[in-house]
Amino acid sequence: MPPRTQALAVTVVATLIALSPGARSQPPRDDRPSPAVTMEELHRSGGVPRGWRFKLPAGDAARGRRVFADLECYKCHAVAGADFPTAAADPKNAGPELTGMGAYHPAEYFAESVLSPNAVIVKGPGYTSPDGRSIMPGYAESLSVTQLIDLVAYLRSLTAGDPHGGAMQGHEAHH
Ligand code: HEC
Repeated sequence: MPPRTQALAVTVVATLIALSPGARSQPPRDDRPSPAVTMEELHRSGGVPRGWRFKLPAGDAARGRRVFADLECYKCHAVAGADFPTAAADPKNAGPELTGMGAYHPAEYFAESVLSPNAVIVKGPGYTSPDGRSIMPGYAESLSVTQLIDLVAYLRSLTAGDPHGGAMQGHEAHH
């Protein structure tokens, strides 16, 4: 084969591989249908399939960033390099830094943190009121489902830098 024909053949084969269904990029895991079950099977296994876990659909991180800004989450949570307004020093505004946090928790944990701050209370200076509850307001009654999903997508996108790990060392110093 002359080199040009050979190069063309390689391109054609590469294109065919790229277009074959198996090689196409998979849709996000959450959008793939799971095998159907009967209602009887569900009831027998405790109401959910074995190994079932609630999965939050994928959201839009850019829209979630705007929700984060609009709700002024940055007043209590620093995000390095995110360019939110600087929060005034106020003891009422304490909270863990969220930089790099996306790599540490699943989406559903973030969703719960926002809806029910008292479900898991992270220890830290000024994080709880005297009654032991989180000072973070719950957003269960104010966020739309879409806002929640987008906000979680934004939190999950915060994987750059690793000060969250560093913040953990900071926490230890306070204990
Ligand atoms: C008044 C301060 C305050 C505001 C406002 C606030 N938070 Fe928090 N947040 C906290 C504190 C304090 C904690 C740690 C105690 C706890 O677990 O609830 C926390 C915990 C979290 C956690 C869990 C962190 C971890 O390491 O597990 C996430 C995620 C979070 N907040 C996101 C948000 C988002 C998103 C908003 C805005 C919608 C927000 N917070 C608004 C104070 C605040």
